[in-house]
Amino acid sequence: MSFSGFKEVIEEGDTVILYIGVSQIYALEVKPKVINKNGQGVDNVFQTKYGSVKVMDLVGKKYGSRVNLSKGWGQVLYPTPELWTITLPHRTQILYTPDISMVLTQLEIGPGSIVCEAGTGSGSLSHAILRAIGATGKLHTFDFHKERVKVASEEFIRHGFGDRVIVLHRDVCDEGFGVEGVADAVFLDLPKPWDALPHAVSAIKTSGGRICSFSPCIEQVARTCEVLQSLGLQELLTLECLAREFQVKSISLPRVINGQKAPTHQNTHVSQEEKQPDLKKKKVEECVEGAGSDTNTKSDEHEQIAAGNKGQQGNGDFRFTTGITQLKMPGHTGFLTFASVPPGLARNKLSCVA
Ligand SMILES: C[S@@+](CC[C@H](N)C(=O)[O-])C[C@H]1O[C@@H](n2cnc3c(N)ncnc32)[C@H](O)[C@@H]1O
Repeated sequence: MSFSGFKEVIEEGDTVILYIGVSQIYALEVKPKVINKNGQGVDNVFQTKYGSVKVMDLVGKKYGSRVNLSKGWGQVLYPTPELWTITLPHRTQILYTPDISMVLTQLEIGPGSIVCEAGTGSGSLSHAILRAIGATGKLHTFDFHKERVKVASEEFIRHGFGDRVIVLHRDVCDEGFGVEGVADAVFLDLPKPWDALPHAVSAIKTSGGRICSFSPCIEQVARTCEVLQSLGLQELLTLECLAREFQVKSISLPRVINGQKAPTHQNTHVSQEEKQPDLKKKKVEECVEGAGSDTNTKSDEHEQIAAGNKGQQGNGDFRFTTGITQLKMPGHTGFLTFASVPPGLARNKLSCVA
């Protein structure tokens, strides 16, 4: 099977995504046996909060269809790099979709691109690159951790990317990328990216290309930028991607007539849920987790929003549906530093600059 294509029906050997709710999404391998904690081969039965599923029973089901669990239900989805990023087994820290989408855009990665990446880590970014470069592109990905290289290679093959990726066990800071003048883009997620930068520039095509380095700390960014400049790279840009989610909610505001606030009992409507935070939390959880159970909470919630969509309230306030940002936002992951290797950059003195 392939993450980059699509097919209708689940077969043995596929990786499928079991979606129960926003915080219950799992990647399952469709195979008869799995190894348990004691190292024994046992039937592949996956346990969830809503009961178990015999994974081989998924064979023959359509992607996107509903599957019954012993105490509820879920949906089986076709795998994508985005779903893989939120379900993959973590062997390292990983890049998430907001950073990944910025990397793909800024590095101008598309069908046919040749990309170098270090380190491979858990393969989160690699999957997105592999889909973006298509069948005509090539990813050279490197890690100095032997076991991670082995596991990532097996995963790429299982996910249908075997023919467009070369996974090598290598210390790129000491040994470089082993390719010269071939890459359109190089991506680094390393503790000391500055040591790999001269090699990264050598890997880029003589006609030019793009480099990106991901670092959690601003001190790493400062040192990376100094080396990028000393190597003669241009268009340096450091970004931090913070995704700001909006939720659609009903709120109330006072009516204003001829610049005057209409008489009102209170300016903003405080719902029963807002007075009782626990109740509100429970309702939201039920709403987002609704797929797993057969309660009607989710549809009730939608009906309530639709009913209270727009209109005047008894207290004179105007109630309407709008987008509200979350009070808590997912925090800092790291900084992305981009730079361009200009066409014809002299490469003979690169190794001594860093
Ligand atoms: C944070 S992880 C990369 C995660 C990856 N970007 C992802 O999205 O899954 C960093 C990886 O770099 C590898 N690494 C660190 N220094 C390296 C070096 N000098 N050469 C090759 N790999 C290196 C580590 O073994 C680790 O697996």
